Amino acid sequence: MIKVKVPATSANLGSGFDTLGIALDFYNIFSFEEIDEGLEINGCDNDYANENNLVYISMLETFKKIGYGAKGIKIDLNTDIPIARGLGSSAACILGGVIGANEIAKASLSKEEILEIATKIEGHPDNIAPALFGGLVASVTEDENIYYNKINIASGIKFVALVPDFTLSTSEAREVLPSNINYKDSIYNVGRVSLLLSALSNGRFDLLKVSLMDKLHEPYRKKLIHKGDEIINKSYELGALGVYISGAGPTIMVIIEDDDMDFAVRIKNHLNSISCNWDVKELDLNLSGACVENGIKK
Ligand code: HSE
Repeated sequence: MIKVKVPATSANLGSGFDTLGIALDFYNIFSFEEIDEGLEINGCDNDYANENNLVYISMLETFKKIGYGAKGIKIDLNTDIPIARGLGSSAACILGGVIGANEIAKASLSKEEILEIATKIEGHPDNIAPALFGGLVASVTEDENIYYNKINIASGIKFVALVPDFTLSTSEAREVLPSNINYKDSIYNVGRVSLLLSALSNGRFDLLKVSLMDKLHEPYRKKLIHKGDEIINKSYELGALGVYISGAGPTIMVIIEDDDMDFAVRIKNHLNSISCNWDVKELDLNLSGACVENGIKK
């Protein structure tokens, strides 16, 4: 039995739309076994326990790439990352499948090759890269090549995910985006994402609020998050250093000082007073990325 543990991720970070992502310390754990025949998937709704399962599809893509013919596959899922909430659940399932297939086949795909296969399946690297490498990762694609870099975050902050009980698919959240943006709005984001990276790496957390501001996606997506604007404003009122929509939403990610012990309680009290149920998760970064049981595979 092979076990693969993949962290949740939070992409975009406001002005870093489609480019930045962080890995967080909660996980999906996938267990894999080659069996004599067929496909057995446990730990999910029956609707997902079939050949269309994303973990299984990702395994098949990987087997194809490395030329391995598995007899049958058994997958056990132990998933903490909620689906369609902007916390990288599909990236985690894809990476779990790719890494699991690499292990089953006793192949030796490098992390770069794993990144490439997983990104092809997902369509973009901004969740895959941090889930694989851990920490804060910037990634872009150019001529079908993926370029990425891990960026150190200074100590002193932690994250609070406000996760609603409603879902939002990435495709739905991309449909509301305009097909063109104006020159001024691009400059607005370029400046802020530059400031954001320097603020995170050298600990100028006072700059987070302004540097997380975005004109490329959040203004359009906020409308899809019930009371989104109100919750963002309230988080700042209650002491947040920075707030952004996690990935395509609807989760709202709050950055706070790491010695702020009761922000989670303060915001939960507020969230309880409005409609919808919101789960409040206090999180640290995951710095090492996806790993196979018995140690992190390099
Ligand atoms: N960067 C992507 C988006 C992440 O915001 O649409 C979602 O998978």
